[in-house]
Amino acid sequence: MVKAHRPSNLMLLPSFINTSKPLLERYQSDQGTKLRLKYQPYYHSAEVQDGSHVVVAGRRMLMMSSNEYLGLSSHPRVKKAACDAINEWGTSPCGSRLANGSRHFHIELENALAEFLGVEACHVTSAGYLACMATLSTLVRHGDALIVDKSIHSALWDGAVLSNAEVERFSHEDIPELETLLSSLPASQAKAIAIDGVYSMEGHVASLPKIVELAERHKAIVIIDDAHGFGVLGREGRGIADHYQLSKRVEVVTGSFSKSLASTGGFIAGSRQLIEFLRTNCRQIIFSAGLPASQAAAALTALRVMQEEPEHRQRLLENAAYYRAGLHELGVDYWNSVTPGHCIVLGDKEKCYRVWSMLWEQGYFTVMAISPGVPAGKDLIRTSVTALHTTEQIDLFLAELGKALKKVGFVARNRELVSTT
Ligand SMILES: Cc1ncc(COP(=O)(O)O)c(C=O)c1O
Repeated sequence: MVKAHRPSNLMLLPSFINTSKPLLERYQSDQGTKLRLKYQPYYHSAEVQDGSHVVVAGRRMLMMSSNEYLGLSSHPRVKKAACDAINEWGTSPCGSRLANGSRHFHIELENALAEFLGVEACHVTSAGYLACMATLSTLVRHGDALIVDKSIHSALWDGAVLSNAEVERFSHEDIPELETLLSSLPASQAKAIAIDGVYSMEGHVASLPKIVELAERHKAIVIIDDAHGFGVLGREGRGIADHYQLSKRVEVVTGSFSKSLASTGGFIAGSRQLIEFLRTNCRQIIFSAGLPASQAAAALTALRVMQEEPEHRQRLLENAAYYRAGLHELGVDYWNSVTPGHCIVLGDKEKCYRVWSMLWEQGYFTVMAISPGVPAGKDLIRTSVTALHTTEQIDLFLAELGKALKKVGFVARNRELVSTT
């Protein structure tokens, strides 16, 4: 029989001691954590996943914020490939690629991605975040200039910090500001420009043609985090560089398998020389375990499905256009997104929370992003459509969103929501 566990006074002692440590006191008094735990808007745990629905706390909810754009994680071929890979290789990647964890399935996926993207080489990592960090932290260093759009994803920011390069920021998509910045830097300084292909919050597609032109004029390399462009833009979903027919003029593209490729992990694509340089010098690659077989197999099969079954991407693009038209009709400020991710900008934390709660109560799963996570005055609810949504589901969501917006006192005006309260 298992004895009931009763904490003794002695066991309480360590936590008493701990609270007197300044760092532990900081964690205990953190306002952000207190608010999150009080209102519980994040870290919801689904008990069941069923296509575009999840069951949370016993309630069936329509997922309106998934990044799994093509809906391939429930595709029979993708699921079978992941199961077969586990049967063949087991579950662990066994270690770092450099030392003891490189396997045939990594090479196969890297070759397939390189061929698809029309680049010489590719390196796969166990997260898209890691691919971004690895790239920036290693390709530039102290003394170099790294010029970034202010809205890049935190995965690139973290790489920028680790690089020790001189980081210069330009306002989001402000090409004249980028030009001024580049012109102000010494011609002899080594330079890189880092951008997102598609900005995950805004849904904007980067102005790549102008950026590439400036980069060439100022001898800067171009690094793109295309986590949200891959699978969506370009021929068969080859991403932003292909969309603008600029694949040969961009030095590095990183991507994530957790969006269109129905898996987890990430990739870095570029010239053979650049990929080999990363393999020699990048700490995140050298000292971190490789991608497990199941995730590599899922990503590889999803990549093949993407090419052999264009209907998934077609459906995604149709759904995105349909949803955007509905938001436009409601007069919602969706930050002029042209991609499947659409935020509903409310510009006010309180109203954001109220609209999010009403949608939640009605069975719609969305995500709130409030400042400082987004620029001040841009508090928003992030939504996205995938290939799995039906037009009926989109209509029902739009109707519920319209009701919630009315209840918080917003009226549509010139595509912008104006507070009447
Ligand atoms: C733009 C962007 N880059 C990188 C990542 C990180 O990708 P992963 O989830 O594969 O680590 C994300 C994840 O949301 C993202 O949105």
